[in-house]
Amino acid sequence: MNAEGRSRLDQRAEWTALSKHREQLGEVRLRELFEGDPARADRYTLRVGDLHLDYSKHLVTDETLGLLRELAAAAGVSELRDAMFRGDKINITENRAVLHTALRAPGSAVVHVDRENVVPGVHAVLTKMATFSERVRSGDWKGHTGRRIKTVVNIGIGGSDLGPAMAYEALRAYTHRDMQFRFVSNVDGADLHEAVRDLDPAETLFVIASKTFTTIETITNATSARDWLLTGLHAGEEAVAKHFVALSTNARKVAEFGIDPTNMFEFWDWVGGRYSFDSAIGLSLMIAIGQERFREMLAGFHLVDEHFRTAPPEENAPLLLGLLGIWYGNFWDAQSHAVLPYSHYLSRFTAYLQQLDMESNGKSVDRDGRPVGWQTGPVVWGTPGTNGQHAYYQLLHQGTKMIPVDFIGFARPVADLRPGLVAQHDLLMANLFAQGQALAFGKTPDEVRAEGVAEELVPHKTFQGNHPSTTILATELSPSVLGQLIALYEHKVFVQGAVWNIDSFDQWGVELGKLLAKRVEPALTEGAEVAGLDASTAGLVATYREMRGR
Ligand code: F6P
Repeated sequence: MNAEGRSRLDQRAEWTALSKHREQLGEVRLRELFEGDPARADRYTLRVGDLHLDYSKHLVTDETLGLLRELAAAAGVSELRDAMFRGDKINITENRAVLHTALRAPGSAVVHVDRENVVPGVHAVLTKMATFSERVRSGDWKGHTGRRIKTVVNIGIGGSDLGPAMAYEALRAYTHRDMQFRFVSNVDGADLHEAVRDLDPAETLFVIASKTFTTIETITNATSARDWLLTGLHAGEEAVAKHFVALSTNARKVAEFGIDPTNMFEFWDWVGGRYSFDSAIGLSLMIAIGQERFREMLAGFHLVDEHFRTAPPEENAPLLLGLLGIWYGNFWDAQSHAVLPYSHYLSRFTAYLQQLDMESNGKSVDRDGRPVGWQTGPVVWGTPGTNGQHAYYQLLHQGTKMIPVDFIGFARPVADLRPGLVAQHDLLMANLFAQGQALAFGKTPDEVRAEGVAEELVPHKTFQGNHPSTTILATELSPSVLGQLIALYEHKVFVQGAVWNIDSFDQWGVELGKLLAKRVEPALTEGAEVAGLDASTAGLVATYREMRGR
């Protein structure tokens, strides 16, 4: 069917039904929803693998959920999902399959891209990564001067940084504690400088992570790292082989850079950058946690893949989370979504989700290239919860914006903490539960008055409540649970892109800035005349040159 023949999302009967339903719900109150249904908390809870999901504190009824599922069915979410798992080229603007799910499929699975089963290749790379990781971890892999590697520096950006950096923090309790791991992404020289200033090059391994191996930030940092290494070792190019490995789809560029192709760990164009960290891009993480833990993490991903692929709509967690986001974004005008982990180890989790969600669904034309007439991806933000409580939670509680929240917490701490620190865990989790409760149910003026508060302060101390949240709990943040959590969000993002009828797998929006930076750079360095600079940018360039004394 051509674009003209296909009906637009906002003209579908299912969309109209949801708009009408939203009007009918009016000022629905969570307090009333809970009072009217004592079983609500139980009924609105899902279990997926090790994840316990409570979605009862949402401004929805059975009818809302039914209508949302009808919208998903009409938009063809399950058909697109099956096409993705099958290896169809659903990334239409780049004509590519979208097969991060094949990266965690068991060896017995068969997934075809262009009539070739890609699973054996995935497992061959995993085996190569495992062998290399064990050599580095055990000290068998030696640097150029014969010393063992003590520090791994991952150089990459976007999906080639955020995934491994986030997962390294998340799984720190499982890492090789006698080694150090650092992550360099920013083209600001300060990033590499701070990462290597106290390191001994003889004991340092650089992992250059870049799908394309053309990304300017990564190649610039990798080149500087090579200079630092060779200068520090007083060695020639022959030292590179023992201190540099590459993770890439581009063997030619890797070789051009001077990295021995046998030190390259391959992946494929059907793995999107932001979906790549369970490919070779996870090598730094594998060195940190060991291959067995890495495989446990992959099994966690796979568990949720299978759930998403096979669970009926009423029990399908990624479908549910995706639809709840659509409910607020498209029918309540919510602009953002906060992800607030109550785990220090998940300090980079929301940053990782920002790329996953915003690079995937920050689109304004549909799959046929027509402007969309509806809101697409939200602004995703957040930091670990207790810190946020003393910063921006005020706005969540008493501000004027509708901001749905995901709380994530764990029953047990994973690290070997001193008893006193273990006891702090209950305090941490008490905060999570309290925040969800306060956001949902607030405090009425009468409740405030009953506390003897002076009348003029009552409005200031009243909490409207009715702020929706999902709470995700697991026993502990194990590698498998991390894999489950990430897959849950990956598929949630997929569901939303499918309903909005956008291509969630391209990222053309990052290209213009890259192009312009290349064009402007000679103006900064050589004072070259750059045609087509607008007056503001030209003025800034001139001021910059003056400030630099050029
Ligand atoms: O930001 C654009 C982008 O292409 C991301 O999608 C990707 O994760 C990142 O740049 C890094 O790309 P590469 O791995 O090719 O260096």
